Formats: sequence, structure tokens, C-alpha cells
Amino acid sequence: MKILASYSIKGGVGKTATSVNLAHLAATQGYRTLLFDLDPQGASSFYFRVRPSEKCKSKFFFSKEKKLQKNIKASDFPYLDILPAKLSFRNFDIMLNYMKKSTTRLHKTLLTLKKEYDLILIDCPPSISLLSENVFNAADKILIPLIPTTLSERTLQQLTTFFTTHGYRNKKLIPFFSMVQTQKKLHKDAMTRLRKQYPRLLETSIPFSADIEKMGIHREPVTAFAKDTAGAQAFKTLWEEVESELACSKQKKRA
Ligand SMILES: Nc1ncnc2c1ncn2[C@@H]1O[C@H](COP(=O)(O)OP(=O)(O)O)[C@@H](O)[C@H]1O
Ligand SMILES: [Mg+2]
Repeated sequence: MKILASYSIKGGVGKTATSVNLAHLAATQGYRTLLFDLDPQGASSFYFRVRPSEKCKSKFFFSKEKKLQKNIKASDFPYLDILPAKLSFRNFDIMLNYMKKSTTRLHKTLLTLKKEYDLILIDCPPSISLLSENVFNAADKILIPLIPTTLSERTLQQLTTFFTTHGYRNKKLIPFFSMVQTQKKLHKDAMTRLRKQYPRLLETSIPFSADIEKMGIHREPVTAFAKDTAGAQAFKTLWEEVESELACSKQKKRA
């Protein structure tokens, strides 16, 4: 089982769009996939029309016992399950603050699912907190959508410095350009600069696309309702790059 996170300190950069489409593409290829919506705003859950059950308990998220399953829901797509978000997830940082081994709890809990899934994709909230550190420890790779602007450059720098100073491996971080508008000189210049600075930037860029924005209307991944559009094709190429970085393997498919 591999764990992939879609993460940024910033909001509105395409973390959820990335999570939803990559989870869908992985499942389409037969990977038993779990999309874990860790953002209390619940945008990923909304896109897949899934709601948390009333019985969903926050304490299951940091338990070594196999209880997290109780919160998992099926999606409308084969091989794709969703762990929907609840507003109470906003208290995770406070909960973690009182726990021992407070930065590795999430990883331990996710490992209880390793027989059920080939891939867990975590859609993260925009912050850099104790919960984020749990993601840094749990994830094999961390995808970082970057809108090519000066502020994003700064955010990526802050994150790589945090990783270095806190003993996390910078190799886990895989940035890529998101919401790219090549007609803007600002975007083009920032992309050239950043590519020189960060050789690990993925080749694929996700364009700014009205089709991707329409996911909110269709409540489906763009890779499902408009799979031949430029936006959907870009996510497909992105997934191919990420899949090879992760070196995922498909285990026995579900019946
Ligand atoms: N490539 C894109 N092109 C155009 N709009 C996008 C694109 N990616 C995301 N959006 C839109 O931008 C907003 C923020 O995207 P989202 O994926 O929710 O970001 P985050 O999860 O980082 O907050 C949403 O309204 C979404 O529909
Ligand atoms: Mg989001």
C-alpha cells in the first residue's frame, strides 16, 4: 500500500481537484483506492456525493485498533472508496496535542488498512500544523500544486526549509504546476525560474480550465464527465508521472 498526499500550506491551489481526479484515475486502472478527505471543508466528499455517517468518531482516526473502517463509504466508481470529512476534523490538532507520539499517529492508523487498499490518497487542509506533520510522516510522496506566482515560490521555499530543519526527507515532496495560464507572462517567468530552482518539479502542468471548474456542477471528477478535454488529459499525464514516482503495485483485485 502506498500513501500519497495532496498538500499545500496555501488554500485554493488545486489540492482537492488533484486528489479527486488522481483517485478516480488510479481506481479506473484497478488500484484499490481510498480517498481520505482530511479537510473539514469536505470538498472531496462533496465531489463524490458522499457524507460522513452520524456514527463517525474523531477518535477512530488516531487509534491503532482497526476502527477507521467504520467511517469509510463506497463511491459510485469501482475500486474507489471515500473517507469523508466532518467539520469536527477541525479539532484534530487539539486532539493530537494531547497524544503521545503525536506526529506519527495517523500513519499507524492508516497502516491498519494496508490489506484493503493499494493506494490511499489524502486531500489535506491548507495549514502547517501537527496534523500536517502526521501527513508528512505517513505519506510516501507529497504532491504540491503550485500556481506559478511569486507567493507560491515563497510557500514552497518555506516548506522545503521546514522539511530540512525538522528532519523530514525533501525527496518526498513532488511539486507540480497547477492552474497554469501560459498567456500570462507572470506565470511563464515564474515557471522558468522555478524549474531551474527545483529540478524535482514534475513535467506535467495542469492548465487553468473551465472544465475542471465545472466539477462542482457535475459533482464528479473531470476525468469522468469530460475525459477527452485538455484538463482531464493533463490529470491523466500527471497520474502517469506520479504512479511511476510511487512505484505502486496492484494487489489482488476485489471481486
Ligand atoms: N486547473 C483548474 N482550472 C480552473 N479552476 C480550477 C482548477 N483547479 C481547481 N480549480 C477551481 O479552483 C478552486 C480551488 O480549487 P481546489 O482544488 O478546491 O483547491 P484547494 O483544495 O487547494 O483549496 C475550486 O473552485 C476549483 O473548482
Ligand atoms: Mg481542498
